[in-house]
Amino acid sequence: MEGSWDMLKQCLSYIREKTDFTPHIAVVLGSGLGGFASWAEVFCSVDYSELPRFPVSTVSGHEGRLLLGDIASVPVVIMQGRVHYYEGYDMQDVVAPVRLARLLGAEGIILTNAAGGINRTLSPGSFMLIRDHIASLVPSPLIGANIERLGTRFPDMSEVYDREYRALVKQAAERAGTVLHEGVYLQTTGPQYETPAEIELFTRWGADAVGMSTACEAIAARHAGMRVCAISCISNMAAGISSEALSHEEVKQTAKRVSAQFERLLYETVLAVGGAGVRGEEET
Ligand code: HPA
Repeated sequence: MEGSWDMLKQCLSYIREKTDFTPHIAVVLGSGLGGFASWAEVFCSVDYSELPRFPVSTVSGHEGRLLLGDIASVPVVIMQGRVHYYEGYDMQDVVAPVRLARLLGAEGIILTNAAGGINRTLSPGSFMLIRDHIASLVPSPLIGANIERLGTRFPDMSEVYDREYRALVKQAAERAGTVLHEGVYLQTTGPQYETPAEIELFTRWGADAVGMSTACEAIAARHAGMRVCAISCISNMAAGISSEALSHEEVKQTAKRVSAQFERLLYETVLAVGGAGVRGEEET
């Protein structure tokens, strides 16, 4: 775990040699959202491969780059691409981009992803604001010696997805003219998609959508005292909900089809949460 902290400190020093830019909000881009970077006035771009020991994605459709810049007047760090647990990385590596964003100064984070729809009111191309998550099927990114400089050993998770941020994302969706569902996201390890029996189980657990990322990042972000919100793009209906076989191609195609709408929603979300203040004393 000290190794993980050393790596973060080295990455931070590397970036600080280039720029003293301090982002207010971090944005993690999921599948098909790489184009969102064009909404930002970018001052500094760093490839993950330049950063010492930083994890680099092996999945097609996931670039690995960190951008520092402004969206309208909101200073942001955009994480273009993420790594997944199923790639073989430790959970501490998976959440390294989130922690680095925190060390750069980001107080809030917007997570995005592509997910399978479980709730039948969703359909491919729908957007879902994550109200809460189920992360019990994946290892916690906080396992191991606690990094005290980031957060406490036993962090509270009773409101991972910030109430005020969620209200602001709903307003952003109205401004973007997008219908926004709200629900519970369940994270699996992947990389295989689920079986219909698993999806039936997840339905009973109260999950509305399923995916292979995000909840672990939200946990690391809350541990580090960040305010969190997250939006899923429903790229397909989960196994057994639709009779069709699932494929990564379908996920990428849907994400691409609705990417312009997702980018607009994300832009409005950055403006909305970028204007929100820092949380009270208890979070620091
Ligand atoms: N299951 C898990 N992860 C996913 C899915 C799915 O159906 N769609 C996109 N990511």
